[in-house]
Amino acid sequence: MASFFSSLFKKETSVLGVDIGSSAIKVVQIKKKRGRAVLETYGELALGPYGGVEVGRAISVPADKLIEAIKDLLREAKTTTVSCGTALPLSSSLITFITVPPVPEKQMRDVITLEARKYIPVPLSEVFLDYSVIPKEETYVGEDESSQTEKKGEDVLVVAIHNEYLSEYQSVMAGSGLQPTFYEIEIFSSIRAVVDSGVSTVMIVDMGARSTKLYIVERGILRASHIINKGSQDITLALSKAMSISVTEAETLKRTKGLKGGPEYKELSEIITVNLDYIFYESNSALLNYQKRYSKNVSTVILTGGGVLLKGFTDIAKISFQTDVVYADPFGKLETPAFLVEEFAQAGPEFAVAIGAALRRLSELE
Ligand SMILES: Nc1ncnc2c1ncn2[C@@H]1O[C@H](COP(=O)(O)OP(=O)(O)OP(=O)(O)O)[C@@H](O)[C@H]1O
Ligand SMILES: [Mg+2]
Repeated sequence: MASFFSSLFKKETSVLGVDIGSSAIKVVQIKKKRGRAVLETYGELALGPYGGVEVGRAISVPADKLIEAIKDLLREAKTTTVSCGTALPLSSSLITFITVPPVPEKQMRDVITLEARKYIPVPLSEVFLDYSVIPKEETYVGEDESSQTEKKGEDVLVVAIHNEYLSEYQSVMAGSGLQPTFYEIEIFSSIRAVVDSGVSTVMIVDMGARSTKLYIVERGILRASHIINKGSQDITLALSKAMSISVTEAETLKRTKGLKGGPEYKELSEIITVNLDYIFYESNSALLNYQKRYSKNVSTVILTGGGVLLKGFTDIAKISFQTDVVYADPFGKLETPAFLVEEFAQAGPEFAVAIGAALRRLSELE
């Protein structure tokens, strides 16, 4: 009897979320318990050493090395399942917003495919195409324009991923022994992990190693995305060059002192600031353009990615954006041990993508 009950109540299947970034891979294992997503384990591994470059740098490692890295990470994090959801980099995809005439559901895919052809620069047979129709109440119209939109049709978000990318990831996952049930662009993982659906308009800033990605999200739905081709590794490389120190030393200085090194580290602060200024300028333009175009106010900037962990980052982010700026707290969506609360607050921005992918995988079990 006891065993019957324990198996009845013990529907605690564990799942993984996997994020393969340009400089590091992250994994998160969660399970469902009493209706809550519970954190079981998580870990991160720098890819640099697998490709002969320093930790913190972006690197395209060959498939066999990537498989080795993933296996090492799974071992280090002591994961106990292979069932996962995998996030794909934004750079592997093309995202467009199109408007299509109102048609019956059955014809939607054909109409979208026809329209998307104008925006996707490769033959559609070479891409995996996915779309989601943006619910009417979420579409962007001024109050007085709503009748026009009725006529204009449906706003649709279209995502295209090159088949080659997808099959590369599939073979890496298989080689690592992992069993993904889906692949999704990292944007959607991040949104799930860091945005509360009731919140009006927010901008997610994901500062990774290679690039900084901006997503504008309205009530949980993606409305715009933008990539800035500058990331945290550019700060390290600039420091190494200007201060004539090794990349490893520069990386350590960046991480330990950041903008909070005091007068002794004036040069360090100056170089970091110059690089961040460019990123903030670009981000702010994207934000202001959006606000102007749609007459919407972005209420909060949510910071994700390892680059935002730089000491003093939020101070200048707040000045630049002139709006509320917060660190992403994706661990807040999970049940976690209370005594590690500091650690989770610190790791949150880096694990947003992996946690988002894990949450979707978990919801598939319901
Ligand atoms: N404490 C810190 N202070 C400053 N920078 C940091 C800190 N921790 C990590 N970084 C930087 O964050 C970057 C890695 O961030 P992240 O793991 O989000 O990138 P990624 O996902 O691999 O890259 P991408 O998203 O561009 O593909 C590295 O360049 C690293 O130097
Ligand atoms: Mg990333």
